[in-house]
Amino acid sequence: MRPNNFNFKNGILNVEDMSLNDVLANFSTPFYIYTKASILESCEAYLSNIESTDLVCFAVKANSNLQLLKILAEAGLGFDVVSGGELSRVIKIGADPKKIVFSGVGKTKAELAKAAELEIFSINVESSYELENIIELEKNPRVSFRINPDMSGDTHPYIETGKADCKFGISEVEAISLAKKYSPEEINLVGITAHIGSQITNTDLFLELLEKLKSLASQFEAYGHSIDHLDVGGGLAIDYKMENNFNPSELVKELKANVGNYSLLLEPGRSMVAQAGALITKVIGEKENGDRKFLIVDAAMNDLMRPSLYNARHEIENIIENTEDKESFTVVGPVCETADSFGDEFKLSAKADDHLIIYSSGAYGSSMGSNYNSRLRPAEILIDAGSYKIIRREESFDDLIKLEEI
Ligand code: LLP
Repeated sequence: MRPNNFNFKNGILNVEDMSLNDVLANFSTPFYIYTKASILESCEAYLSNIESTDLVCFAVKANSNLQLLKILAEAGLGFDVVSGGELSRVIKIGADPKKIVFSGVGKTKAELAKAAELEIFSINVESSYELENIIELEKNPRVSFRINPDMSGDTHPYIETGKADCKFGISEVEAISLAKKYSPEEINLVGITAHIGSQITNTDLFLELLEKLKSLASQFEAYGHSIDHLDVGGGLAIDYKMENNFNPSELVKELKANVGNYSLLLEPGRSMVAQAGALITKVIGEKENGDRKFLIVDAAMNDLMRPSLYNARHEIENIIENTEDKESFTVVGPVCETADSFGDEFKLSAKADDHLIIYSSGAYGSSMGSNYNSRLRPAEILIDAGSYKIIRREESFDDLIKLEEI
C-alpha cells in the first residue's frame, strides 16, 4: 500500500527521517505536509515527453499554496486558473502570463478584462455570452472554445464535467456555429479545450477526446480560424489505495503521438500533487456508540472535505506503528456533523495522542478547506531534501476574526 511516485528517501513517510520527527515535535496537529521531491517527480513525468511548444498547466484549484505554485512554475509548468483570485496567485509568484489558461463557467467581465490585460495564453470560453463579453473588451485576447464533449469519465457524479447536461463548456454543435458566426477578425480563436472529469481511470478516454478536438479543429479552420493548440484538460486518476499509480508519462507519450501538428496542452491537478501531500492528525480519544468504535481525531471535514463530500477513501495509518493488535475504527473529526467522518473500518492500533497520517491529501485538501465550526486552518509544511519549512502558518484566533466588525 504505497504510492509509486512517492519519494520515500526524501519523503515524509520514512519515520526514520529526522525531519518528520522534528516536524511532529514542533507543530501542533493537524497540519498538511508535502514533499518537494514527489512534486518534482510528477512534473518530470508530465514534462519529459513534451516539446517546448506544448504546455502543462497545473490546475491551481487542486492546491493553491504559493510556495507549491512557485516550485511548479520553476519546474516549467504553466497554470490553469478558474477565478480572479487564482489568477492573482499565479501572477504573485511570477508565473509567465503566456503559460496561463483561464477556465471556468462563470467568469465575470472584470475577470475577463484582467486576463485580457495580462495577455494570457488563452481564455477558455465556456458559453456564447462569455464570447460576446470578450468581443466587447478593448483587447482581442487569445481564446479557446471549451467543448462539452458529452463523455462520461465514469467517476463520482460531483466530479463528472464532460456530460451533455453538465454546466461546463459549449456543445460541439454550438461551438461550430460560433466558429462560423464570428470571423478571425472578430475573435482570436486559437485553441480547443475540454475536461472530461476528474479521477479518470480509463486513459483511452483522453485519446478519444483528442480525436474529437482534432476533428473540430479542422472544422474551425475551414471557417478561417488558426488553431494552434488542443487542450485535453486534466483528470488523470491517482490510486487512493496506493497500490499502483496511473503513469502520466505513458499518457503524454500517446497524446503526443496523436496530436498531429497542434501543440498539446494538459491541465493536471490531482495527479501532480495528491500523493505528494498528507494530513497529519492526532488522536483525541476513543469511544463506542452502538456497534461502532470511533477514533476521534483532531483533523476534520473542514481540513479535508473529500471523504464527507464525495465519500472518498483516504488511507490512514499510525505514523509510528504500535505493537498492540489492530482494531477496526470509524475515524471521525470533532465537527458537529455526522458527515464529518473519514470512513469506517480503518485497521489501526491507535490510542490518544498517537499521530496518524491521512494519505493522498496534497490535492483538493487544503484548497477546499474552510473555517467551519470556527476551526483554525492548519499549517502547511514542505519537506525539501531532509529539512522542512513552513509554507503556510497555522491560523490564529485573530486571523479568524480579523475581517469581522462588532
Ligand atoms: N481542468 C479543468 C477545467 C477542471 O475543471 C479540473 C478539475 C482540472 C483541470 C483538474 O482536474 P484533475 O487533474 O485535478 O482531476 N474537488 C474534487 C475535484 C474537482 C475537480 C474539478 N475540476 C475532488 O476532490 O475530487
